[in-house]
Amino acid sequence: MAVYIATTSAPVNIACIKYWGKRDTKLILPTNSSLSVTLDQDHLRSTTTSRADPTFEKDRLWLNGIEEEIKSGGRMATCIAELKRLRKELVEDKDASAPALSTFAVHIASYNNFPTAAGLASSASGFAALTASLAALYKLPSTPTDLSLIARQGSGSACRSLLGGFVAWNVGTLESGADSLAVQVAPETHWPDIHALICVVSDTKKGTSSTSGMQRTVDTSPLLQHRIKHVVPQRMEDISAAILARDFDRFAEITMADSNQFHAVALDTSPPIFYMNDVSRSIIAVIEEYNRVAQLPENGGKRKAAYTYDAGPNAVIYAPSANIKEIISLIVRYFPQQETFKDPFGLFGTAGVGA
Ligand code: ADP
Ligand code: DP6
Ligand code: CO
Repeated sequence: MAVYIATTSAPVNIACIKYWGKRDTKLILPTNSSLSVTLDQDHLRSTTTSRADPTFEKDRLWLNGIEEEIKSGGRMATCIAELKRLRKELVEDKDASAPALSTFAVHIASYNNFPTAAGLASSASGFAALTASLAALYKLPSTPTDLSLIARQGSGSACRSLLGGFVAWNVGTLESGADSLAVQVAPETHWPDIHALICVVSDTKKGTSSTSGMQRTVDTSPLLQHRIKHVVPQRMEDISAAILARDFDRFAEITMADSNQFHAVALDTSPPIFYMNDVSRSIIAVIEEYNRVAQLPENGGKRKAAYTYDAGPNAVIYAPSANIKEIISLIVRYFPQQETFKDPFGLFGTAGVGA
């Protein structure tokens, strides 16, 4: 008897221009375009295995080993239904000998190798891995951009994790959502010198999920209206140009400004939402000071690092590889580590840095 099973991993992506707000909550259509960097697969990722079998009674999902309910009409159910529909349309209706997998229930098991729902984009890698795994199981001929339309309906940020490198999610204008998809602005190979340093300030589940937080912002924040009309469109153009020109100074300026405006918009929400904590704000102060010194004419006049925070207290610091060792030293000096710093890149010689 045939076994139909597929396993796929997807990495997280961390936005430089933040998505925060939906104009359509069912289709997950955003209020503004966004742009992110997809991290490489070796670090923070979700790995999802899907199996279809005629004996399965219903679709089921296990997340990190614990079964989660698939609510009917919910996001998970929508993604699975869309992928089954594509299986039928693009494979079974075209080839009578293809097994009728679209009529079988699926069992899905997914693992994150990093904290879930802590502001490190688990919903992004999670729904991207789910979409990619079912697309592989169903042998869909779809492109990553086609699949981004489906992952988007699971979690908005997930549409960007189906592509590597620097990725834009276009706001789109169609009511159907058909043009609200992810496209690659530049592949990772265009600017491999950029590294991301993840500083886990807290790995606990956040108090306000991204989904409920952003809806409250849409409903109550006047600053959000200014942001989506007058700020983001220009920033999307400017940061795309900075990426294409490999202009780190400009990339850093825009990335930090957008992270700060996103958190300002969260604060402008009623009741206000605080995703950053005192440690997050201290990391901002350290990087701002580091850049202030770097920007002195005698030091070259340019920024050397960019912080950005998603909906949680954890910092992501983007920097050219030449600066990473110096930045890690700074962070480890100001923020003694709870666990021994493992020094995965051997930056500090054989001794490593303990704390
Ligand atoms: P985050 O900042 O981690 O993206 P969110 O509040 O946006 O936090 O989303 C967290 C939710 O995403 C989880 O509660 C879960 O429903 C979903 N999720 C996380 N990881 C996965 C996964 N691997 N597969 C499916 N869904 C996932
Ligand atoms: C701050 O994609 O998690 O990380 O679409 O409701 O699932 P839903 O929200 P989600 O929001 C991500 C918000 C962000 C910014 C970003 O990734 O662009
Ligand atoms: Co999320």
